[in-house]
Amino acid sequence: MGALSLTVARPRSAEDLIDEDDYARDERLPYWAELWPSAHVLAAALEARDLTGARVVELGCGVGLPAIVAALRAADVLATDWYEDALGFARANADAAGARLTTRLLDWNAPPADLSTAAADLVIGADLLYEERNGPALARLLPLLLRPGGEVLIADPRRPHADGLIAPLTAAGWSHARSDVRHTARQDESGPVIHLHRLIAPGG
Ligand SMILES: C[S@@+](CC[C@H](N)C(=O)[O-])C[C@H]1O[C@@H](n2cnc3c(N)ncnc32)[C@H](O)[C@@H]1O
Repeated sequence: MGALSLTVARPRSAEDLIDEDDYARDERLPYWAELWPSAHVLAAALEARDLTGARVVELGCGVGLPAIVAALRAADVLATDWYEDALGFARANADAAGARLTTRLLDWNAPPADLSTAAADLVIGADLLYEERNGPALARLLPLLLRPGGEVLIADPRRPHADGLIAPLTAAGWSHARSDVRHTARQDESGPVIHLHRLIAPGG
């Protein structure tokens, strides 16, 4: 990241949080409990922006680092995940950083009917495309969340399933650009380069 230095708490072991009932229900695993390299890259990209007054939604926020940085850059932030415990950590981390954000449970496959639609200026997410089912679910959700001409920033560690998100949106008239960002955060099997996907909704 740039000048900001944040300490982010997370559970000691993600593996200890695996719940067989969750997995049986919808193959849900507690990936939220790690802080992934993509979150560092997305946070750094947000730190470089002035987000004053922007309505920002983070999807799959985990412990909340990008949402917190967006809030510190003066955005109005809603941080979401499908694990209540992730939202608890995101709130505690935001409090510790002196950042204000709102949290909400949100399953990409079943967005709540009262979710304020077509209102976000910017939707952000880090490492969301790790399963084949995730791209199509997000491609259905993003048009509901964003205002016309709104922006999506997704940091992705070069997962093979990214096209499941990008292909349907570009076919529907969204523009797409990709930057390749070399990071110095914890290295995992995905290597040192993160793709930062920027998508713009039609109609702005
Ligand atoms: C690999 S983790 C990334 C967490 C965090 N963004 C980071 O980069 O540190 C993927 C995140 O997406 C969330 N997620 C996965 N599928 C989801 C779904 N259908 N609805 C909502 N959140 C989901 C997980 O709970 C988890 O927090």
